[in-house]
Amino acid sequence: MPGVTGVQIERFDPKASFAGKWARGYDTAPRQAWLASAESGEPVGGYLLRLPDKENLTTADCRLVISPARRRAGFGRALLAHCAEQARQAGRTRLTSHVRDGSPGAAFAAAAGAHGGIPEVIRTLTIDAGTPERLTRLRAEAEPFAAGYTLLSWLGVAPAEHLGQVAAVRDAMADAPRDASIEPSVWTAERVRESEQSMIDHGLTLYSVAARHDASGNLAALTQVITEADTPDWAFQQITAVLSGHRGHRLGLLVKIGMIGLVMAREPAIRHFHTGNAGANAHMIAINERLGYAVGGLSRTWQLDLR
Ligand SMILES: CC(C)(COP(=O)(O)OP(=O)(O)OC[C@H]1O[C@@H](n2cnc3c(N)ncnc32)[C@H](O)[C@@H]1OP(=O)(O)O)[C@@H](O)C(=O)NCCC(=O)NCCS
Repeated sequence: MPGVTGVQIERFDPKASFAGKWARGYDTAPRQAWLASAESGEPVGGYLLRLPDKENLTTADCRLVISPARRRAGFGRALLAHCAEQARQAGRTRLTSHVRDGSPGAAFAAAAGAHGGIPEVIRTLTIDAGTPERLTRLRAEAEPFAAGYTLLSWLGVAPAEHLGQVAAVRDAMADAPRDASIEPSVWTAERVRESEQSMIDHGLTLYSVAARHDASGNLAALTQVITEADTPDWAFQQITAVLSGHRGHRLGLLVKIGMIGLVMAREPAIRHFHTGNAGANAHMIAINERLGYAVGGLSRTWQLDLR
């Protein structure tokens, strides 16, 4: 693995990080943050309403949370009604929300008349004494299939010379199994730059490992992981994608092996890698199972028709 270039976060401020993620997020979509308080002034819950502005223009995403001490008293229903009205006023015809199966959120969504989409399987890789040996063995098995490709990595936002190709590889995510009614993101260099910069602004550390096709010089595969200073033992998988013309060369496995080694080397406290894939995503799941990921639960996106 070549040396890593990029920026390092000097100081982590959890409150500023949360405020940035909640109020600004990772894109330009307008968002509304509402807080509900009791007459005493004590907050009982709130929601974040996100109004996508590039795709899914009839959809609004709602993150609703009620304080644990105030649940099952109707506040959730009341806030959902308020949220639905805001979404309607913004011209949206459905609300979406992503929750774990078996959680209060799933029961609440069902009770509200929403319908659940395709299951996403949450998997976790736990680093143990055998991990380095397993990665070495898997890399040796895969490398013969990947002749003509070179791995490279960077920390933070993508270097300018890779931005357009990062957008192209991100577009390859459109092939992943998804809820039919949810449109995939269409990436441009500028959108990649804004999204990655917002992660850095919110105090996240962003790692990227790519595979370059030597003959053309183009990026063929990319995997990205974030870490956060307040959960030093967890790494969170973002995208992994291989351009369709370069599939079948074990590049998905190789970039993920490179990533696990890179994060372990730079952040010795890391013990777990978290990921989620559509249950029907056979290729990605096969890669994760070879790496040693274990199933941790199911989640899905719920949709509520506002018409
Ligand atoms: C989901 C959540 C917002 C519900 O808030 P709440 O104020 O307890 O919701 P309400 O009291 O208005 O409940 C409305 C109905 O949802 C269902 N429901 C809510 N929580 C439930 C639970 N834990 N188990 C079973 N049903 C539940 C019930 O049918 C309930 O009606 P009932 O109490 O008359 O039986 C709250 O549990 C929460 O903040 N969870 C964490 C975040 C989350 O998952 N958000 C939801 C995303 S869709």
